[in-house]
Amino acid sequence: MRTQSLALAVAGSLLPGTALAHYNFESLIVNGEATQPYEYVRRTKNSNSPVEDVTSASIVCNVGGNDADVRAATKTHPVSPGDEVGFDINSELGHPGPLYVYMSRAPEGVAASDYLGDGDWFKVYALTTSAIDPDTGLEWATFPGNQGGAQNFTFTLPEDLPPGEYLMRGEHIGLHGAGQVGGAQFYMGCAQLSVSGSGSGSPAPTAKFPGAYSAEDPGILIGIYWPPPQEYISPGPGVWPEDCEDHTLNSWGAESDGNCNPLP
Ligand SMILES: *[C@@H]1O[C@H](CO)[C@@H](O)[C@H](O)[C@H]1NC(C)=O
Repeated sequence: MRTQSLALAVAGSLLPGTALAHYNFESLIVNGEATQPYEYVRRTKNSNSPVEDVTSASIVCNVGGNDADVRAATKTHPVSPGDEVGFDINSELGHPGPLYVYMSRAPEGVAASDYLGDGDWFKVYALTTSAIDPDTGLEWATFPGNQGGAQNFTFTLPEDLPPGEYLMRGEHIGLHGAGQVGGAQFYMGCAQLSVSGSGSGSPAPTAKFPGAYSAEDPGILIGIYWPPPQEYISPGPGVWPEDCEDHTLNSWGAESDGNCNPLP
């Protein structure tokens, strides 16, 4: 294992073009304020490399994200339903693909920093295509002009979100190599949140990580270049509370236009 990851690290450093496009979910954004990198987001021990095996334990909170030392070094941020939250990325979402945010509540009496994310997850935000062109296929809201990557994003926490200790898992899927099984790249980070208030919703549908994804889901095994796809089917459960996808990026610092914009 160790030799293999060293070999991969060396191979990665010889391919600066690929490594440079990699990215981390490093900072939590709450109501327009960014926090320090890995202050409230569990640090990854994977440098900035993606997870490629959807059945791996690392699909939950990235490599090392459930380790005791990482959890102990991560603070838990108080938030309220209706807060605008998001992630600042190191350095940018450098590949074409969709963006999702999942949440999972720790069992009663378990702190977010002790929670391993082995309970139920629901999808609370989805940001997918910004356009579908008959000739060129899918364009991505996080990848304007099929070249520039978004550096940050925000969305609004649902008003009915029940109080408790949570993990909030931001995820971007790089689909540039996804035409082969195992070729999709999963980039993710878990923030630790303490949700206050009296929200009484019942988030659903839910799924487990690993388990939410299969390597052959149509949104994970997909050749995005040729022939140009004319639809994109998101992997994992639908979004709670409104089963919708956003098609416009809400940038940190810009006024939000809501979480459910239709394709133009
Ligand atoms: C958020 O990201 C966009 C690019 O996606 C960038 O132009 C903007 O400066 C970033 N906002 C902040 C506050 O850093």
